[in-house]
This record gives sequence, C-alpha cells and structure tokens, in this order.
Amino acid sequence: MPEYIDFISRIKLKLGIDLNLYKETQMRRRITTLRNKRGYPDFSSYFTALTTEETLLQEFLDRLTINVTEFYRNPKRWDILQKRILPLLTKQNKQMTIWSAACSTGEEPYSLAIMMKENFPNIACRIIATDLDENVLKKAKQGTYQAQALRELPPTIKKKYFAEQQGMYKIKDTLKEMIRFKQHNLLADAYPSDVDLIVCRNVLIYFTDDAKAIIYHRMGKALRQSGVLFVGSTEQIFSPTNYNLDLIETFFYQKV
Ligand SMILES: C[S@@+](CC[C@H](N)C(=O)[O-])C[C@H]1O[C@@H](n2cnc3c(N)ncnc32)[C@H](O)[C@@H]1O
Repeated sequence: MPEYIDFISRIKLKLGIDLNLYKETQMRRRITTLRNKRGYPDFSSYFTALTTEETLLQEFLDRLTINVTEFYRNPKRWDILQKRILPLLTKQNKQMTIWSAACSTGEEPYSLAIMMKENFPNIACRIIATDLDENVLKKAKQGTYQAQALRELPPTIKKKYFAEQQGMYKIKDTLKEMIRFKQHNLLADAYPSDVDLIVCRNVLIYFTDDAKAIIYHRMGKALRQSGVLFVGSTEQIFSPTNYNLDLIETFFYQKV
C-alpha cells in the first residue's frame, strides 16, 4: 500500500511520530476508519487536510493514542505491587523514583501516589509521569475526574485525596506535589535514569516486536540495579534476560 507508506513518512516528518513502529494492520485500520469518517477518499488528501485544519489534526492524534485508563487498573496486580514489590524496593531505600510511562489522563500516577502515601509514608517518593499526547497530559495535570472514574476507590480514600466540586472530584495538592508530568515519546526521547520502579502498562501492545525490544532494552537501562518494571496484563516480556530483566512475579521484572 504505497500511498499509506508515503502518508506515514510524511506524518513522521511533520509530527516526529514514527507509525512504522506501531503494529501496522491495527494502526492502518484505525486511521483508515477515521479518514473515511471525515470523507477523504485517499491518504494524500487526508494529509493535506491534516496540515491545514488544526481540529482534524487533533482528532487524528487522539485516535492514534488510545487513552483508556482507570485508577488501579487490574486491581489484583496493584495488590501484588503493594504487598510484594514495593516492600522489596523500599527495604533499604528511603527514597524512590517511580516512572509512570504512557500515563494517559493521570489515573495511574495518582494511584501510585495514593499507594505510596497510604502504605509507605516514610519514603520520599517522586513520580515522573509521561505521555506522548499533550491533551491527556493537560487533563492529568488538572486532576479533575468524574465520579464514575473513582468508583473502585474506597470512600475513605476519596474523602482524603479528592475535593468534591459540583459532582466532579479534584485531586488534592498533596498528591499533585509528588508528580512531575512531562511530554515524552517512548520511541524517540531520552529516558530517565536510576529509576526504582517503571510502570509501563497497556501501551506496548500497540508497538511492533522490534519497537518493543528497543523499549525493553532502554527501560532495562533506565532502572537502577534491582529496580522493577511493571507491565500490563497482556504484555509479558519474551526472553526478559535479553534486557537484563528477571521475572519475579507475573508482569513484574527486576533488573539483575
Ligand atoms: C491505553 S493508555 C495506557 C494508560 C495507562 N498506562 C494504563 O495502563 O491505564 C496508552 C497511552 O499510551 C500513550 N502512547 C502512545 N504512543 C506513545 C509513545 N510513543 N510514547 C509515549 N506514550 C505513548 C497514549 O497517548 C496513551 O495515553
């Protein structure tokens, strides 16, 4: 499909996003559906429209990056994080750096902040929260959620960490202060270093195997010795030892 190939190289030049590194069939289907919905018969006319109409470009970016998320997504995994992984990481260390990579609208880094405050109050914890998509980061920084988004949170936690305003729930500053939100492309930008825990969930599924291998390699490097990478529930790493990682619990890998 040469027209599509031309389209993605023009997108790379314009936006710096390399769609070659995302699974092709899935990505092409998503973009084609959107293009057809907006009435463009081919990729060339769609690209021209994207370069002239800001709202169209915004919609395109939103569609590329599926932003679905929730507080404590897959709660059983978070239970393991709290009961097994964090005690391990905080045993000798009184300071922690956590990286929530591809954090979407912020539910994941805020869940981490709540977990640390509630269970490890003596640990000085800073959380770096990054995503490719500026729009979701804006929402994350704002930290205002609908009641529905908080349905899994116990009432005591809601009361303690959120201020209710006209049916919306706003995260309190004590949590916000722990988090630094930043735009970051996992496929192109420099990674942080000496990270104790990387939480990177439900984004790697969109990438090709080659792109995944590069990301795992770089995450392995970003972790400090014995640091842990927490991945999503469909994202087991094939041959983790290739990246100096060791499986210690399902979906948790420790740097060796
Ligand atoms: C499904 S959400 C995952 C949110 C959260 N980690 C979770 O598990 O609930 C996927 C996120 O990955 C982000 N994303 C997609 N491509 C990315 C890239 N190349 N670099 C960084 N983030 C990316 C999207 O913007 C989106 O917010």
